[in-house]
Amino acid sequence: MKRIKAFAHASSANLGPGFDIMGLALSAFGDIVELEEDPFTSKISIFSNNLPLEIENNTAGLAIKKVLESKKIRMGLKLKITKGVPVGMGLGSSGASAAAAVTAINELLGLELSLHEMINFAMQGETAAAGEPHADNVAPSLIGGLVALTSIDPMDFIILKLNPDISIKLILPDVKIKNKTIIARSVVPEEIKMRDHVKNAMNILGLINSFEFGNIGKLKKHMVDQIVELKRSSIYPFLGEIRNISQKYEDVSIALSGAGPSIIVFHNIGHEPSDFINEALDIFNLQGIKCQIVKSEVGGGSRVIED
Ligand code: HSE
Repeated sequence: MKRIKAFAHASSANLGPGFDIMGLALSAFGDIVELEEDPFTSKISIFSNNLPLEIENNTAGLAIKKVLESKKIRMGLKLKITKGVPVGMGLGSSGASAAAAVTAINELLGLELSLHEMINFAMQGETAAAGEPHADNVAPSLIGGLVALTSIDPMDFIILKLNPDISIKLILPDVKIKNKTIIARSVVPEEIKMRDHVKNAMNILGLINSFEFGNIGKLKKHMVDQIVELKRSSIYPFLGEIRNISQKYEDVSIALSGAGPSIIVFHNIGHEPSDFINEALDIFNLQGIKCQIVKSEVGGGSRVIED
């Protein structure tokens, strides 16, 4: 029986003003999905140590189900997920599993799906974790690098330039919240003021330009979101203080990674953000929160891997 293994990297979504629009693949972590036909059933059986095993609650299972439904294929599958991406940390864990799963089913069945189709199916898988689809984690996990969605229906995206002088650190606070993404999305406002929209649109343009030219001072100026991230300070009491501290450091730009709680830190190569990180760790320490600091490179796209 043919067995396919696929890998997809973690990602950091939003990057300040780009809520549900922009994400960056992170090499620091990745998920592996193994897929094998099961001739004895017409169901998808999920094997994983630490994820929900019901299809509707599992982003990889749901993404595969959506592919099979759309292609009108009925078959049994054994789906094994090996997590490398920390779960519930805002590092695109659910998206990485969905991206790897779509990559695996595409290969197993020789479907030759386009990247647009793959993003679409993986995005539908995200519903299992977030309560609604969003593509800003699955797109970078599938494609690699810095990706922005330019349309959802029909699916479309652009790959943005990222200056090689930009370096990444991740702060992973030991904060566990059940159904975190659903909760973090429930505080997102339904309506916003026109002046906030204009400010965010300007920040997105500034962000794209700063990523391309590697200007951390400008990146910092534009990596600001007064619409979604601000609301999420109610979930993460440390966020406001960490942002305040970061203001002191001209050569450090930060954002809440995805729906949190992790913080992504950008700096130029050779300008290690040690002072900022130490100050940030003091804040977490005062709040009794342990943290892990991880260095990451920019991640590549999902791929089929050998055993
Ligand atoms: N854009 C999504 C959100 C990412 O912020 O809810 C979730 O990982």
